[in-house]
Amino acid sequence: MQYIKFTKDGLNISPLGFGCMRFPVIDKDLSNIDEKKAEEMLKYAIDNGLNYIDTAYNYHGGNSEKFLGKVLSKGLRDKVYLATKNPVWLVEKYEDFEKLLDEQLERLQTDHIDFYLLHSLYDKTYEKIINLDVFKFIDEAKKKGKIKYSGFSFHDRLPLFKRIVDAYPWDFCQIQLNFMDRHYQAGLEGLKYAHSKGLGVIIMEPIKGGKLANASDDVKRIWSESKIERNPAEWALRWVFNHEEVSIVLSGMSTIEQVKENIELVSNTLRNTLTDEELQLIDRVTDLYNQKVKVGCTSCEYCQPCPSNVAIPDIFEMYNNMYVYDTVDQSKKSYSKLMESSKDAFNCIECGQCEDICPQHLEIISLLKEAHRELI
Ligand SMILES: NC(=O)c1ccc[n+]([C@@H]2O[C@H](COP(=O)([O-])OP(=O)(O)OC[C@H]3O[C@@H](n4cnc5c(N)ncnc54)[C@H](OP(=O)(O)O)[C@@H]3O)[C@@H](O)[C@H]2O)c1
Repeated sequence: MQYIKFTKDGLNISPLGFGCMRFPVIDKDLSNIDEKKAEEMLKYAIDNGLNYIDTAYNYHGGNSEKFLGKVLSKGLRDKVYLATKNPVWLVEKYEDFEKLLDEQLERLQTDHIDFYLLHSLYDKTYEKIINLDVFKFIDEAKKKGKIKYSGFSFHDRLPLFKRIVDAYPWDFCQIQLNFMDRHYQAGLEGLKYAHSKGLGVIIMEPIKGGKLANASDDVKRIWSESKIERNPAEWALRWVFNHEEVSIVLSGMSTIEQVKENIELVSNTLRNTLTDEELQLIDRVTDLYNQKVKVGCTSCEYCQPCPSNVAIPDIFEMYNNMYVYDTVDQSKKSYSKLMESSKDAFNCIECGQCEDICPQHLEIISLLKEAHRELI
C-alpha cells in the first residue's frame, strides 16, 4: 500500500478508504448486515494496510456504526482513522449536534472520531445548521477532543460548494465523483477548487454506486480495445485515482473479492498513470452511457423507507437497466414482482418526502410515473 500524506499534520493514510454503506446483508434486508462476512472483509482490509474507514449515522439503518464499533473494539481501533458523519437533518437545536455525536461515540465504542463530517450538505440543511451555530459546535467538539479533523460531505450545486469551502477552516471535504459525474454537483471543478484552498478531498461513489461495474456488451466492446485488459470497476476506480487533487477514494465493497481486488489495485500509486489513449477510451464509454441513462439515481437509499412503501431505488434501477443494459424482460419481470408486494410506483401518494432528502435532487414523483408507464 502506498500511503498518502493527509491533513496539515501529514498523516499517513491509505488512498483507498472502506465505505461502510455497502456491507453484505442477509435476505436483502439492508439493516441486517452479514456480520461474519463483513468482519472478514474489514479485517482483511486492515491487515493489508487500509487505514481509513468511513461510516455514517444512518448507514444500514443505523447498524453500520454499531457493527463497526463491535469489530474495532477487538483491538483494531488504533489501527485505523475513523470517519463518521453528523446527520444534520435530525438536528433541530444547538444541543442536538453534540447529543448525536455522543450517541455515535457510544455506538462506535470510541472516545473520539478522527474525521467528523457534516453529512450530505445541501442548501436547506446548510442554512439550518448555520443558523444553529454549527461552527461553534465543531470548535467545541475539537477542544473537547471528541473529534480531531472536521469536514463535510456534499450533494448540491457547485456555487454552494464553493461557499461552504470558504466558510470555515475545514480539514477536508467529501464529494461524489466518477467518470459519469464529472460536471455534476461539485464535480471536477469543485475538486480542483477545494484542493486549491488546502482541503483534502475524499471521493465517494467512484463506481457510481456499482453501476459502472456492470457493463453492457457495447460498453465492453469499447473496454476491450485497450491494450491492457481491465474489468469495468477497475477502469472506474483508475479514472478517479488518476487525479492528483484526489486524496482518498472511498469504495463501498460488498464482497471479500472486491476488497482484495481494490486493495491490490492501490498497491502502486495510480496518480497520473492513465495514458491519453486510455483517457479517450473512458471518454467514449462516458458518451455511450450518457446516451442511455434515464434516471441518475445512485441507490444511496436516502429516500427509504418511503411512507407508502414504494421501492424507489429498485424501480429506477429496473428502469435504467432497461435502457443501459438492455434488460427489458428482466426489468418488467422484476417490476411485476414489486407490484405483487405493493411496492411499485402506483402506490406513490406524492407526499414529496423523497424529493426533500434525495442527494441527487431527482424529480422522483414524475420519474416514478414515467418508469411505471414503461415497466408495466
Ligand atoms: N456522504 C454521503 O452523502 C455519501 C453518499 C454516498 C456514499 N458515501 C460513502 O462513500 C462510500 C463509497 O460510495 P459507494 O459505496 O457508492 O461506492 P462505489 O464504489 O461507487 O459503489 C460501491 C459498489 O461498487 C461495486 N464494487 C466495488 N468494488 C468493486 C470491484 N472491485 N468489482 C466490481 N464491483 C465493485 C459494488 O457493487 P455490488 O455491491 O453491486 O457488487 C459496491 O457495492 C460509501 O460506501 C459511503 O461510505 C457517502
